[in-house]
Amino acid sequence: MASSSSSSAVDYSSFLSDLAKSRKENPIRGLLHLELEPGLLSLLAGKPNPTTFPITSISFKARNPLSADGLEEDEYTLSTAEVSTALQYNFVAGVVPLVEWVLKLQAFEHKRKLDPAWTVTIGSGGQDLIYKAFSALVNPGDPVLVEAPVYAGVIPIFESMGSPPIEIETDADGVDPASLRAALAAWPSDKPRPKVLYTVPYGNNPSGATTTTERRKEILALASEYNFIILEDDPYYYLYFGSAPRPPSYFSLDTEGRVLRFDSLSKVLAAGLRLAFVTGPLPIIRAMNLHTASANLQANSTTQVIAHAVLSKWGIKGLQAHTSGVSTFYRAKRDVFQKAMERHLTGLARWSVPQAGMFFWFELVLPPGGDSKELIETKAFKAGVLALPGQVFYPGGRKTSFVRASFSLLDEDQVNEALRRLAVVIREEWGGNPPTVQ
Ligand SMILES: Cc1ncc(COP(=O)(O)O)c(C=O)c1O
Repeated sequence: MASSSSSSAVDYSSFLSDLAKSRKENPIRGLLHLELEPGLLSLLAGKPNPTTFPITSISFKARNPLSADGLEEDEYTLSTAEVSTALQYNFVAGVVPLVEWVLKLQAFEHKRKLDPAWTVTIGSGGQDLIYKAFSALVNPGDPVLVEAPVYAGVIPIFESMGSPPIEIETDADGVDPASLRAALAAWPSDKPRPKVLYTVPYGNNPSGATTTTERRKEILALASEYNFIILEDDPYYYLYFGSAPRPPSYFSLDTEGRVLRFDSLSKVLAAGLRLAFVTGPLPIIRAMNLHTASANLQANSTTQVIAHAVLSKWGIKGLQAHTSGVSTFYRAKRDVFQKAMERHLTGLARWSVPQAGMFFWFELVLPPGGDSKELIETKAFKAGVLALPGQVFYPGGRKTSFVRASFSLLDEDQVNEALRRLAVVIREEWGGNPPTVQ
């Protein structure tokens, strides 16, 4: 398996945005680590005196995935030291034991040697880190390569930066390398070249696709050939439930330091913790940390300490047991949804079956010229079903008859009822006579 090399061929200074290069160390945050020196008396930070904080203890319960049925609850009571860390300001990159835990997890999970060339930092959710990565790498107005359809949460980032998204086509196997190559090969020589490709490689939001290993390798080769960084936004990695082994991550295949990988605890521990981590080349992570130091100082200390208490008790084995339970849960939800799709939408929609994540992406069979926007936003809504029309996932707002449905929450009866209602609306588009199934 590939492992990183500490002497990277990549010149990161040519990747950093002007804004990233102009950022200066926060004069206090940059010195905070010195407080760890034994015997030093610190008059440095304006840390509030914790004796004035009303919270004096933090206890909670969490299910233990390594218990016989995985449901046994452990009681956690944070130590005095953990409580004071949880309630106080902390380092920009995160609370040290959590950062160290995450480093080891990434090295193990993605088969990468611990190496000073790459590091991790904790953020307030993946969204926070993705925004900071774009800001660190892209100058306003610079083009960015994005898979299409793309996670709708990143579209406002490109829009606010005035950065034209270059839509790369995808299918059920993920990003299409031929589309990527065509865009890069035809790039006009007088225009700045795109420096990043944004992609969600497992259980894509919205398309549900998991990119095949062959394609990942081809895309990495293109990154090397055309000199760009892959932003691997991967909140659904642990929600892989396909029957074939999970393909390796871009980060695990990367030998040149061309991947910035985003993991999130939102789908595996709790979305409200607002915790995620980014893993990748040191110069890029450092630039993102400078952004954090001037934007929000750090991710929440309290939730970092809570997450660390749980993860360190479980160990990597416990995390694997837990996430395997989570993915099994979503596989069952996927199966229910798939069955209901077959029952209600056969002949009225076309789809591929997702192997990870929580989304079904399907194309409505509509009369010529029809698209899903009005049908979903108005007619389906009136009929009592809420979903998202595909158009919101295309930066250019292209007309499409695709729809994204999330299968994470509804139970079997509710799924059947939702798709039954949708089927009625689609049939009405055909005046009650949809084409017969071949
Ligand atoms: C592809 C993708 N990226 C990022 C996020 C943001 O997640 P969070 O900020 O909760 O980590 C989401 C949330 O649904 C997502 O689907």
